Amino acid sequence: MKDTIIKNTEEYVRNELQGEGSGHDWWHIYRVTQLSKKIAQKEGANLYICTLAALLHDIADEKLNESEEGGIMKVKNWLQSQSVETSDMEIILEIISTISFKGGNGPALTMLEAKIVQDADRLDAIGAIGISRCFAYSGSIGTVIYDPKIPIRDKLTKEEYRQKEKSTAINHFYEKLLKLKDLMNTKTGKEMAVKRHEYMEGFLEEFYGEWEGEK
Ligand code: ADP
Ligand code: NI
Repeated sequence: MKDTIIKNTEEYVRNELQGEGSGHDWWHIYRVTQLSKKIAQKEGANLYICTLAALLHDIADEKLNESEEGGIMKVKNWLQSQSVETSDMEIILEIISTISFKGGNGPALTMLEAKIVQDADRLDAIGAIGISRCFAYSGSIGTVIYDPKIPIRDKLTKEEYRQKEKSTAINHFYEKLLKLKDLMNTKTGKEMAVKRHEYMEGFLEEFYGEWEGEK
């Protein structure tokens, strides 16, 4: 029964996210689900809840819906259509509503399963994958890779974010990616973040060296 629900949900999410260009494509969901399962096993969390929450975590995203409530309703309708038990459904909806909205600024999470899915989502934003997603996203909004004339800032206002001439892909590392390591919730998440973080630091060192023709 639970296996069927997971299979159906995979299928549903894959269809919903087809052609999604904002970095929330199916393969992001796939990676976050794999990471969530791995962390859940190590942390002794509920694997079924983590898997469903990870699969559905971006379905309610504001980028794909008219409103937050509309997005959450969509997830609720889906879970009901699969006859997911009410208590499980409530937990999944709570996880998704607390983590999916502008992660980092939301309330501190208390539920282990929520912490795990948030860690998995953050891990997918760092390391080699995170670097790739950053440049893919920047390309999609037309931001330059880097511009030494634009001072690096670790905070950008929403408005500055939208003004291409005020931001660069490299700036996104300082504004977000390099901060994620210290925001990990679980022991396993923290451990996994270390290597990915170091990889990004190495990447930046290499990048600046190449920029000046030193390497
Ligand atoms: P999530 O909600 O999954 O954390 P976002 O929707 O904020 O992710 O972003 C999707 C991906 O695009 C992430 O990998 C993120 O780091 C990257 N990204 C978001 N905003 C920017 C930006 N201004 N410049 C470069 N990359 C970005
Ligand atoms: Ni995500």
